[in-house]
Amino acid sequence: MTEPDIDSVLDIEKEAYDRPWTRVHFEKELDNPIAFMYSLTGEHKGRHVFAGYVVFWVVYGEAHILNLTIAETFRRQGLGLYVMRLVLDMMKASRVDDVFLEVRKSNVAAKELYRQLNFKESYERKKYYGDEDAIVMRLVFNEYI
Ligand SMILES: CC(C)(COP(=O)(O)OP(=O)(O)OC[C@H]1O[C@@H](n2cnc3c(N)ncnc32)[C@H](O)[C@@H]1OP(=O)(O)O)[C@@H](O)C(=O)NCCC(=O)NCCS
Repeated sequence: MTEPDIDSVLDIEKEAYDRPWTRVHFEKELDNPIAFMYSLTGEHKGRHVFAGYVVFWVVYGEAHILNLTIAETFRRQGLGLYVMRLVLDMMKASRVDDVFLEVRKSNVAAKELYRQLNFKESYERKKYYGDEDAIVMRLVFNEYI
């Protein structure tokens, strides 16, 4: 992901979340030396468009996934899983041992996706999203298939 991608990324972000990241969030992460950001493009109605993105941190053998979003028109086609597998392979190559992420308690789709990758529910962060608790999910790499 680069700065010129942010407009398209924000369109997907606003469509996906009640409390979307703002431009400042994305700009801050683009300047963050421990942050990795990738956007994904695809064909829709003959046009080349943004299909999703992922943002994660890697620091001292630990990784944290901050944002994984697939645009609505591209969902349920295996893209979320595909992106996550790529990201986990990158992390493994960077000798990451543990991967963490937060997910809304009610977010069945995301929790199912992460479970398929062998993430386990670790603990809850009360009112992490203001209106809802977060489940912290963790993947220990020697358990990753
Ligand atoms: C969660 C999200 C990234 C999944 O992306 P996706 O590309 O649609 O997911 P995939 O097609 O790769 O699905 C992989 C698995 O996830 C689960 N899954 C995905 N969408 C689901 C849904 N709507 N309901 C139940 N399970 C779902 C299924 O287990 C699915 O496997 P299957 O298709 O074999 O049943 C996408 O729905 C999204 O961007 N949601 C809004 C943003 C968000 O919640 N991000 C995660 C924040 S933690």
